[in-house]
Amino acid sequence: MTATLSRPLVLGIETSCDETSAAVLDGANRILGHVILSQDVHEVYGGVVPELAARAHLQKLDGVVDEALSRADVTLDDIDVLGVTAGPGLIGALLVGVCWTKATAWALDRPWIAVHHMEGHLFGPVLEQADAEPPFIALLVSGGHTMLIHATAWGEYALLGQTRDDAAGEAFDKVAKLLGLPYPGGPAIQKVAVDGDPARHRLPRPMLRRNQTVHDPAYYDFSFSGLKTAVVELTRKLGDEALPDEVPHVAAAFQAAAVEVLVSKTLRAVSETGCGRIVLGGGVSANTLLRQEMSSRLEALDARTGQRAVHHASPRLSLDNGAMIARAARFRFDQGERAPHDQNASASMAFPGLRSGSRAGVTSRT
Ligand code: KG4
Ligand code: ZN
Repeated sequence: MTATLSRPLVLGIETSCDETSAAVLDGANRILGHVILSQDVHEVYGGVVPELAARAHLQKLDGVVDEALSRADVTLDDIDVLGVTAGPGLIGALLVGVCWTKATAWALDRPWIAVHHMEGHLFGPVLEQADAEPPFIALLVSGGHTMLIHATAWGEYALLGQTRDDAAGEAFDKVAKLLGLPYPGGPAIQKVAVDGDPARHRLPRPMLRRNQTVHDPAYYDFSFSGLKTAVVELTRKLGDEALPDEVPHVAAAFQAAAVEVLVSKTLRAVSETGCGRIVLGGGVSANTLLRQEMSSRLEALDARTGQRAVHHASPRLSLDNGAMIARAARFRFDQGERAPHDQNASASMAFPGLRSGSRAGVTSRT
């Protein structure tokens, strides 16, 4: 190990779904070594099989950690703090990472931090863009979650809205399956949509009506299951014969509808709070149209705001990864948090610092 390394050295572990990942961050939050192994055992099933995910994590985690340490040019003994996704996610998959981390921390006599996966996603962009710092409006869009958050500081989050049924990524995955596209559906839809005309088929924009006000409970909330049903009906109407030629157009229409809802609700939060900084996190934030639309419509927004910017991580750090978990663990470590010995994995872990059902902060300017 080189003498110039700054401490604490944090090892982050992610095993909540189908990526086995480990990363080493130094004291300045620089990524020294990072390995993300995407499990391909699920491909033939068109979705993640929980039991297979857990088994694959168990097989691969040791090797993934070894490789991350070796790329960082450090050993396990050099690590000062460990952080692991403790929830939410697939319980069998989470348990692999949590048990590994707990046992390793105990053997090394080091503290460890139980990280919330979605707080990890909030920290993704700041790994690459130093000014992706609160206050900001965060749109967290993954395979399991869709949340609109007003972050006034790290650890202080007001939940403005969330999905009432399917998550945005889940909708991409289900629609892809309907169209005969591979898993994961998001990148597959994005790819074929390039050759499609988004205006050829009109799909609904669920929970988005012009006359909604901030006092309407649906103002910031999302719903994607109706959009998916509309795609089911459209494919049925087109029929097996016409569908293959229409796939790019249906994919483009679906992507346009989902993105319009996500962007519009996020910009409502910008207008209401006056907070012009937007952070995009989670797998769906890798979507090119979402990023482009968010930036151009934020620029054109007619509202009084502070400095405007859209932050997102590179695609690699938008998807599940150990670096974002290490970065969130570092924040919690600096706050004095330490996981107790009886800390367990939890499929439905509560988001730390999240005030839910609150409209607080919505009318005050940041
Ligand atoms: O954050 P993530 O890697 O895992 C979860 O925490 O769920 O997100 C995975 C989700 C999947 O539903 C996948 O289809 C979606 O992110 N996704 C995308 C894109 N890349 C991944 N959705 C839309 N466009 C993309 N380019
Ligand atoms: Zn995720």
